[in-house]
Amino acid sequence: MKPRPDALRGATIAGTGMYVPERVLTNADFERMVETSDQWIVERTGIRERRIAAPDEASSDMAAHAARRALAIAGLEADAVDHIVLATTTPDRILPSCACTVQRMIGARRAAAYDMFAACTGFVFGVSLGRSLIVSGTADTVLVIGVETLSRIVDYTDRNTCVLFGDGAGAVLMRPCEPDQGILAVDIHSDGDLGEVLEVPAGISRNPASEATVKAREHFIRMQGKKLFPFAVRSMEESTRRCLELTGLAPEDLEVVIPHQANLRIIDAVRERLGLPPEKVPVNIDRYGNTSSASIPITLDELVRAGRLKPGDHVGFCAFGGGATWGASIARWTMARQPVAVASGAMSGGLAGTRSGS
Ligand code: ACO
Repeated sequence: MKPRPDALRGATIAGTGMYVPERVLTNADFERMVETSDQWIVERTGIRERRIAAPDEASSDMAAHAARRALAIAGLEADAVDHIVLATTTPDRILPSCACTVQRMIGARRAAAYDMFAACTGFVFGVSLGRSLIVSGTADTVLVIGVETLSRIVDYTDRNTCVLFGDGAGAVLMRPCEPDQGILAVDIHSDGDLGEVLEVPAGISRNPASEATVKAREHFIRMQGKKLFPFAVRSMEESTRRCLELTGLAPEDLEVVIPHQANLRIIDAVRERLGLPPEKVPVNIDRYGNTSSASIPITLDELVRAGRLKPGDHVGFCAFGGGATWGASIARWTMARQPVAVASGAMSGGLAGTRSGS
């Protein structure tokens, strides 16, 4: 999807924010919990450590931190927000929505707030919706948040999944811009036939919570990692190429491509297929693991804080996730170059762009 030629305005990212919890869980910690090794985890995934929410910290808390920071960078008050689109697989609870809880926390009284369930592709889906709302004139200011407390649905006795996931939040504030700026193209897809490849079997209407579901550990993530791997590589490459086609750009025109941080080997395979050098594809999976819908906006905010993006840069995002879902987007960057010193609670130390082992 690209803007209609007669579109009166485009939609752009005017502010970014992130938050990760303070507690760090290292590969050495996992060596004491399940039969694994730091070497296996680093070689097969690129992950060295991940952040874990405090017992009293939920998705809405992390999302509110990231959202406040995105608003501060955009120079806007919460009252300006028309819609809050919150992408997550781990809301605080099913009712009320996590977005409504965040609305109350940040005081965005005017906003329509709702959750979006598209697993790890949630942020790309959210940006797609934000752009449509703004380009159509339905909204002027859209807060898109990706947030996960995956540690609450990870089975810490299952070595196949527990080493992969972490907690965190990222947010962007979307605003109108000139039609040829901002989000130039979006490509999003779903394939429900792949639903069982990544699932939480119990908890809601199909298989409600019971003593039996708890005993069978059916409230935790189950994943067929081997099946997901080739699908992840193929889908992120194809979606990025579709966005390049829609914008008339070539891979070498992209200054940065931010892939969903699920596995360093997946990221490297997508990068190689697109013919991009490592310095154009930021990696922070070594520090955060897979934070699902939060991984792209966290990485984006780290790039913004590092002053890595300047107006006119072409910035790509691509992701895949449970559902299955996948998608990509290309933006012509409009935010002035900054590092900006805006406090946002416990934040990560390093800068995006560092690669595992470097
Ligand atoms: N430590 C040690 N050994 C392990 C571990 C571990 N933590 N986990 C699995 N193994 C073992 C397996 O049991 C297997 O042993 P076996 O051969 O005796 O059966 C062996 O290692 C190899 O397992 P594979 O599945 O072949 O390992 P692979 O190289 O495929 O890596 C991984 C596994 C990391 C899960 C990979 O397949 C992957 O990243 N897939 C994509 C998963 C993904 O991205 N998921 C996120 C989806 S996004 C979202 O929506 C949340």
